[in-house]
Amino acid sequence: MSVLITGGAGFIGSHTAVEFLNAGYDIVIVDNFCNSKPVVLDRIKAITGKNFKFYQLDLLDARALENVFEENKDIDSCIHFAGLKAVGESVFKPIEYYHNNLTGTLTLCQTMKKYGVKTMVFSSSATVYGVPESVPIKEDAKIGEATNPYGETKVMIERILRDIYKSDNEWNISVLRYFNPIGAHKSGLIGEDPKGIPNNLLPYVTQVASGKLPYLHVYGDDYDTHDGTGVRDYIHVVDLAQAHLKALESIKQRGGIDVFNIGTGTGYSVLDIVKAYEKATGKKINYKIEGRRPGDIGACFADPSKAAEILGWSAKYGILEMCRDADNWQKKNPDGYGE
Ligand code: NAD
Ligand code: UD1
Repeated sequence: MSVLITGGAGFIGSHTAVEFLNAGYDIVIVDNFCNSKPVVLDRIKAITGKNFKFYQLDLLDARALENVFEENKDIDSCIHFAGLKAVGESVFKPIEYYHNNLTGTLTLCQTMKKYGVKTMVFSSSATVYGVPESVPIKEDAKIGEATNPYGETKVMIERILRDIYKSDNEWNISVLRYFNPIGAHKSGLIGEDPKGIPNNLLPYVTQVASGKLPYLHVYGDDYDTHDGTGVRDYIHVVDLAQAHLKALESIKQRGGIDVFNIGTGTGYSVLDIVKAYEKATGKKINYKIEGRRPGDIGACFADPSKAAEILGWSAKYGILEMCRDADNWQKKNPDGYGE
């Protein structure tokens, strides 16, 4: 049996592909490279020493997708990563974001249904909680008003998947709400490759560490947190990748639809991250405190106990390993995957 991985050339998808191949699964990756590069596929093969099928296609292209199911009758489940994810960009390009993320998911579900494949693990996000009423956040916390189209697509897709399950209980769906994935594979062969100047904290810090950027802008030191800077639940991307293995195995056995927070349960502030990065790498991170970034929240971290109880999954890597592996990736690939 094979697992279809949509968006498998991306940051989280590539690390998940490695974990599935290492666990002995056959996989089929589809990706249109709108936010990734073909060389990633060679890197996955180099790390695992294993081969897999790949199709360059857009999820919006139903015929191309059908062809994948036609040619791979052994596909029995899907891990669905493909989507656009830049929060800021989504505010300026709502049509593209809703179309890509929603229509892409609907086309995928339609095709899966047509071929009798009804098992899916979906990449959701802690962003669905909006401004959390309290932390740590449990899965039954209120789903907030997402402050941007990207977040709305996650709220809407979760709703669509619930309705699909309601209409047909043969579906098995596991919704994973990721907190803040960072780090990279230990080999330094795959990692996060943001376009242009990074928006997220860790990729920015790695570029300050390497001298590419002069200093970190710390967005706000007046939040209600232990040092005033924003607190998040950073999780090593390899831990996150392994959560998909557990989620797939579990949902196949248990059936139904379920939602899991995938975080460590520990919140670190921006200044904690600066200190951890310096400790892990011996490199100095210069920073300046500035005003808050619009749309940011003070503290957001998970209660991951449901994933521990039901999936038997919990994060293994600590913050120093996350920083060290991110730094190793940056050092070995100063320009990411290059042109
Ligand atoms: P990514 O951009 O690195 O990977 C997504 C991949 O999907 C890319 O390779 C891209 O080319 C592909 N893709 C996008 N639209 C496609 C389409 N229509 N057809 C085919 N391929 C398409 O992003 P990532 O960080 O690996 O995130 C993976 C998933 O996890 C996304 O759904 C994202 O929203 C979600 N997520 C990410 C984070 C994060 O911080 N990285 C946090 C929460 C949730
Ligand atoms: C961002 C997204 C969110 C997504 C999450 C995980 C926004 C508004 N939200 O959230 O939807 O689910 O990533 O991918 O983009 N920071 C700095 N300086 C920087 C960058 C960040 O101080 O240059 C601070 C932020 O203010 C925040 C923390 O670092 O307190 C983490 O920021 P970031 O990595 O962007 O993640 P989120 O804000 O959690």
